[in-house]
This record gives sequence, C-alpha cells and structure tokens, in this order.
Amino acid sequence: MSLDINVTTNGADQHRADCVVVACHESRALSPAAERVDRASSGALARLLKSTAFEGKPGQTFFCNLEGVAADRVLVVGAGAKGALPASRFRRVVSSAADAATAGGARSVGWYLGEIEVEERDAYWHARQAVEAFGDATYRFESMKSAANRGKPPALRTVRLGVDTKAERREVTRGIEHGLALAAGLALAKDLGNLPGNVCTPSHLADEARKLARRHPAVSARVRGEADIKRLGMGTFLSVARGSREPPRLITIEYKGGKRGHKPIALVGKGVTFDSGGISLKPAATMDEMKYDMCGAASVIGTIEAVASMKLPINVVGVIPATENLPGGNATKPGDVVTSMSGQTVEILNTDAEGRLILCDALTYCARYRPETVIDIATLTGACVIALGAHASGLFANDDALADALLAAGERSGDRAWRMPVWDEYGEALKSNFADVANVGGREAGAVTAACFLARFAKDLRWAHLDIAGSAWRGGKDKGSTGRPVRLLTQYLLDQAGGADSPRAAS
Ligand code: BES
Ligand code: MN
Ligand code: ZN
Repeated sequence: MSLDINVTTNGADQHRADCVVVACHESRALSPAAERVDRASSGALARLLKSTAFEGKPGQTFFCNLEGVAADRVLVVGAGAKGALPASRFRRVVSSAADAATAGGARSVGWYLGEIEVEERDAYWHARQAVEAFGDATYRFESMKSAANRGKPPALRTVRLGVDTKAERREVTRGIEHGLALAAGLALAKDLGNLPGNVCTPSHLADEARKLARRHPAVSARVRGEADIKRLGMGTFLSVARGSREPPRLITIEYKGGKRGHKPIALVGKGVTFDSGGISLKPAATMDEMKYDMCGAASVIGTIEAVASMKLPINVVGVIPATENLPGGNATKPGDVVTSMSGQTVEILNTDAEGRLILCDALTYCARYRPETVIDIATLTGACVIALGAHASGLFANDDALADALLAAGERSGDRAWRMPVWDEYGEALKSNFADVANVGGREAGAVTAACFLARFAKDLRWAHLDIAGSAWRGGKDKGSTGRPVRLLTQYLLDQAGGADSPRAAS
C-alpha cells in the first residue's frame, strides 16, 4: 500500500483535501467536526441532510459539496445512536466511510471520525482501525489479469487524521504506524492466498520467505528441500508430497526483535499450495478454492511482516511445511502406514486429511526452538466451516491462559475466534487397528478430531491451533482471501510484547 497517512490539527472545515469525512448520529445529530462544517457553510449541511434519506444509520454515507468549507467534498457517514458504539459497529462505520471515500475517487482525505466514542477503545485503536479500513478499501488483486482488463487503481494517496491534543497526536501516530504495518502484512497474506496454485507453489512460498528476510534486517529465512526433510525423518510430511511433481519445502523464518535467549513464539502455518485430496480425490465443484489451502502459511508470513515492521521486542519463528497434495503413480494410498518425525506411526485412511500430516511433523520440529508458545494456523477441516461458518476461526488449545489470550486478541482486533474442546474422548475416534493412530476420525466433530490428532504431537508444547477453513477466504462472487487471522495473531504478539506480565526469560 503506497498510502501516505499522517495527522492534522486542521479543523474539518478548514482542511484542504478532495474529501473530508465527518460523522452524523441518528436523528441527524451532528458530531463536533460535522458541526464545524455546518457552521462554516452557514447551516447548509444540516439543511441538506434534512432534505435527503440520510438518517445517520451506522454505515450510511452521503456526499455533498459545501460553500465555505475548504475541502472539495464532504462525506458524511452515519454513526448510529449517540453514545459509545460497540467496537464491531464502529468498524462497519469506518469501513463504509473508507470504501465510499475510495470509490468516490478522492486522492486526498481528511478524516474526522476519531471523535466517535467506542466502548473501551482509545485514540490509538481508532487510528489503527482507520488505517486498516483504508488498507482494505484500496486492496486490489489484479496481477493475473492482462493490462487491458485491470480496473483503474484507486486514486487515493494521502489520508490525514484529525487530532485535537498533543497526547492524542502521539497515540494516533502510533496507531497509524501499527495500522500501516498490519495493512502491509494483510495485503501480503491476501496476495499469497489469491495467487493460483500454478504460481504460488511451495518454491514460491519459499521465495516469499526469503524476500521477507531481505526486507527486514531482524528476519532470516531458511529453506529446506526434499532430501533435508527426509533426513529430518518427516515421514508424514513426505507422504503428502509424494504424489506431486512440485518439490516440497520446509520453510523456517526467524524474527529476532527480542533479547537473545528469550524464548520465541512459534507460528506454524499449513502450506498446502493446492489440495486435490490426493488419491481420496475431492469432487470437482469448487475444487479451485483449494488453492487457498496455504492461507495458514500466508498468515504466518503476513504476521511476521507486520511485527517486523512494528519492530516488536519479541522473538518469533515461523515454520511452514509447504507441498501440493495430488494423486499420482507414486502417491500415498488409503491404508498406507507412515512414520512421523515423532516416531508415532500413522495409518492414512484418507489422503485428503493431509493438513494434519504435514503439521504434525512441523510441530515436532518446533521443539528444537524451545518455544514459549506454539500456534498452528491451518485451513484444516470442512467440518469447521460447518460448525462456525465464516465469522469465527476455530480455536483449540492445551492451555487455558493461551486460549484466553488468543480469544481476547481476536476480540480486540475484530478477527474473532471461538474455542472448541480437545477432549480425550474425541481423540478416541482416531484409533487404528494397524498403526499408533489413524489420520481421520469419522464425520462427527471433524474439526475436533483433527485438533485431537495434532494434540498428540504437541504434548510437550504450550500449544494452540486455529482452524481457519471458514475464515481465510470468501467464496462466491466476492471470492478472495480475507487475510485472516493476521490481525488476531499480530494483536496477540503486540499484547505479548507489551505485557509486563509475560516475561520470557530463557530457562
Ligand atoms: N483443506 C481441506 C479442508 C477444507 C475443506 C477447507 C473445505 C475449506 C473447505 C482439508 O485438507 C481436508 O480436505 N479436510 C477433510 C478432512 C476429512 C477427510 C477428514 C475435510 O474436511 O473434508
Ligand atoms: Mn485435504
Ligand atoms: Zn487441505
């Protein structure tokens, strides 16, 4: 995103821009900034609003052109009933304002929505929301279209957030910095998700990890090929890669922003760059969407981009097992038994349950970093989509404090998760007659049995698992990557970096 975002102390009526954005509550109650604009226009704003269908409902927008106001146009956005808004409603207000300003073709915007009161939120958070909303509004994915078919890129170049006081200025500036870092991480994660499987291969993900390392001095990346993966004993990972001509990659990314010796937080991302199901082939309808099966990996790369840009004082490692899952003469067959890096043998009853097979070896591998916490992120099960739909990612954890921290980060960042159980009773469904464990546990509670499978490999870790099968992309006519859960993960890491109550001294 090449947006220039900063603060301004100009009043809304005096700010020179293509468009200034002000709020209006229900029953056409003007916000302080809108009132200034109204006064400067000798009451024209209030008169105009009265003559339209605009009521101030959350997210309603209205453009007008007012004599006496420095900006070319005024965008009035509805902010609902007066008083503190719930954060989720405010987010809708902010994104409709950013969308309208962007779609309206403004090159420069003055933003005066910081004065809308939001429950339990400060100026820093307000600013971050605004920046994130402009990041979303200006995001385009057109690199796969030829020039003639690309839409006009958004004209927006500069945004100025109105501030009143010095203290506010400091908070807002920090919010802008963090918002820009997040927007960059989100755009990167979305791009990787949206790229087709023939472009975004395991090697492409590896190149992206190397590029990330080149952009940030505190980041390093290492890429291992098939021979190394074999040497490490990652038999379940390799069993997935067997059917494909495209070579697998084990990608590790280290961000060292914290003290030496401080234990890292590990993010493990499922990087299946196309999931056909393998020999247990998926049906054809919507199979194209399985290019998104690397969105866990994309969220790891996007999150590290964000935290490296923020220069957070923590250590993070990303571990990405990347492979295709295809049928082929050499592919794994239902009934095959393979040995994982942990030594546990796995009977592969369904080759379409491949995510857990690559993740279990990646979890075992993680132990070498002696991580404080391990979070894996995966488009793991269709069952999670049935359980939670698109609104919440599924959260599973073997540690209550970790689960609570992730839930809170999801609430705060507007990228929510919902906790599900990982009880032993569910895990019993994975019993195999021929190996230590089977890779599927039947139709019932499919998202939970998948998590139970992973839990067997995370026994010695403080571990959480995010099933993002429903949240990472949208299908249908607005098909596209959402960048989730980059916001949740980045918020969690921000909380860890700021929390004085989270010492991570080496033990
Ligand atoms: N990548 C899929 C999960 C998925 C399916 C995500 C549909 C989003 C939409 C995963 O590898 C998979 O195929 N899981 C199987 C597991 C089953 C065989 C136990 C599933 O969910 O059907
Ligand atoms: Mn699958
Ligand atoms: Zn998959």
